[in-house]
Amino acid sequence: MCGIFGYIGKKSASDLLVKGLLRLEYRGYDSSGIVVKNGQLQSYKDTGKISEMASALPRLKGSMGIAHTRWATHGGVTKENAHPHVSNDGKVAIVHNGILQNSNLLRKRLTKIGVELNSETDSEIFCHFIAMELDQGKEPLEALQSVLSMVRGTWGLCVLFEDYDYVLCARNGSPLIIGRGKEEMFVSSDPHAIREHTDQLVALEDGQIAKVSARDFQVMQTDGQEVESMLLHLEEEWSESEIGDYPHFMLKEIHEQSESLQHCISGRLRHAEGTSVLGGLQIQPQNLAQLPHVRLIGCGTALHAAQIGQILIEQWARVPAVSHVASEFNANDPVINPNALHLAISQSGETADTLSAVKEIQRKGADVYGIVNVVGSSIARQCGKGVYIHSGPEQSVASTKAFTNMVGALTLFSLQLGRSRHLSKTKGKMIGREMRKLPDKIRTYLENPGPINAAVELILKAKSVLFLGRGISSPVASEGALKLMEIAYIPCLAYPAGEMKHGPIALIEENSPIVVIAPDDGVQERTLNAIHECKARGAKIILIHEEGDPISEVGDICIPVPSTIPMLTPLLTVLPTQLIAYHAALELGNDVDRPRNLAKSVTVE
Ligand code: F6R
Repeated sequence: MCGIFGYIGKKSASDLLVKGLLRLEYRGYDSSGIVVKNGQLQSYKDTGKISEMASALPRLKGSMGIAHTRWATHGGVTKENAHPHVSNDGKVAIVHNGILQNSNLLRKRLTKIGVELNSETDSEIFCHFIAMELDQGKEPLEALQSVLSMVRGTWGLCVLFEDYDYVLCARNGSPLIIGRGKEEMFVSSDPHAIREHTDQLVALEDGQIAKVSARDFQVMQTDGQEVESMLLHLEEEWSESEIGDYPHFMLKEIHEQSESLQHCISGRLRHAEGTSVLGGLQIQPQNLAQLPHVRLIGCGTALHAAQIGQILIEQWARVPAVSHVASEFNANDPVINPNALHLAISQSGETADTLSAVKEIQRKGADVYGIVNVVGSSIARQCGKGVYIHSGPEQSVASTKAFTNMVGALTLFSLQLGRSRHLSKTKGKMIGREMRKLPDKIRTYLENPGPINAAVELILKAKSVLFLGRGISSPVASEGALKLMEIAYIPCLAYPAGEMKHGPIALIEENSPIVVIAPDDGVQERTLNAIHECKARGAKIILIHEEGDPISEVGDICIPVPSTIPMLTPLLTVLPTQLIAYHAALELGNDVDRPRNLAKSVTVE
């Protein structure tokens, strides 16, 4: 939620700040603003898109500044509530991500002593309290420390001062990274916004403060004790963030899936041994043999990937596996077995619900492995072990290529786990061979995606859409429904095909569109029963099936995908659902990449 970008160097800050914000726009996009130091602090902010704010932006000179793109939490979407917030004496400006729980109390305290508040936000209190501390003769660092000791909640915070040539940053629960360039430094909520400037970064930990000047930065604990931070390297794939010739990032990212899956699997499959090797998920053979169960945790699209992972692990490794909605995990005081395997799945690596589940599991004595996209993100660091899925930057709010690579990484892991237990080498080799063919099959499908427009036409006439799938296709149905709902705002329901007759069948009317995911996977025959039950009640079936499969006879609109082995079908059957959502949203005139009310990285619980 919300994006922060900062620049401290010799170049014109304003242009770099706007560019940085544009790269972070998917984190929040209801208002934005920047503040630059040129002797005095000069700021500009407005509601609406960053491009609108940027086109009205007056010329702000200066080579140091901070900027923010907002996803409203406290206070409506107004110019006043947009960041930066500047103290009434004009000497301190702040941008803040996160939520302050005791802001009401602190706002009252400020009002009582006569400080005029200019917004309804929780964040604004920072600039006034820091300015007051400076007034009392404190140095900026001391002033910030003192204010941080008053607040309760979460923050990713940057502070710019009129009288000092550095920016102070602080993190508690909201990500902040520092990018080190040549005589210039960058601050950002996400690594990919800095990749065009530098490939070296440091991620702040919770409870840390950083003092960042053009030539240097120091990281310290809140009490001022300096800490040594590890410099991380950001790989080339993170520089691929231009939209190019595509009209939307979502379409670009759908089309990148072939290449990004290739990145995820390349170098990880071992043909001769019929296995895969995920360096970060190497578990001692004796522990693997005794593994009591596997728990997979995620939200939204990551949860659907986890549900697929659960089935793969049980099928190939014969270990009980269960997937969990991260936001529900802690609520149920789960029993944690320290010998079990726990996997946290997340694109952003910042999802608060998932992070909080990770901490709960660790608190109860077990390790958690991260299956994460963003390098150096909070979940990756909190887990301390795991694998990166190598999707590269995903900028559309609706996740597509990250889903594919989460499933790709979980498939590799299930193969590795299976081979270390009961899965035969011959079967392992066959799986590896089929996996290698997937990137080409994805490309082939996307070149000729079938009657997507006909499916969209049918869907747009309906009040709601039902998605059905069975077995490994059931999470694909859920993912298809989520995608259509989040960008086309069409009510969708996803159900395991066999469960449909226990309730959702009541929704079916003449011409109700039903998307059925029905690869030839051994459970298809029973999916067919559900199709007939729907058709008998007047439903129209949008059937996603494998090429050449006679099941196409029962579809009203048939979308064939290349065939593969049953357990790998989600990596192909999900593609038409992504395209249906994209084209439906487009037809409705929605902002495909920035759907209403959503943010890419959900850093509040
Ligand atoms: C759906 C979507 C969300 C995310 C969810 C988890 O398209 O983007 O449902 O999947 O918020 O996000 P990560 O994977 O960053 O933890």
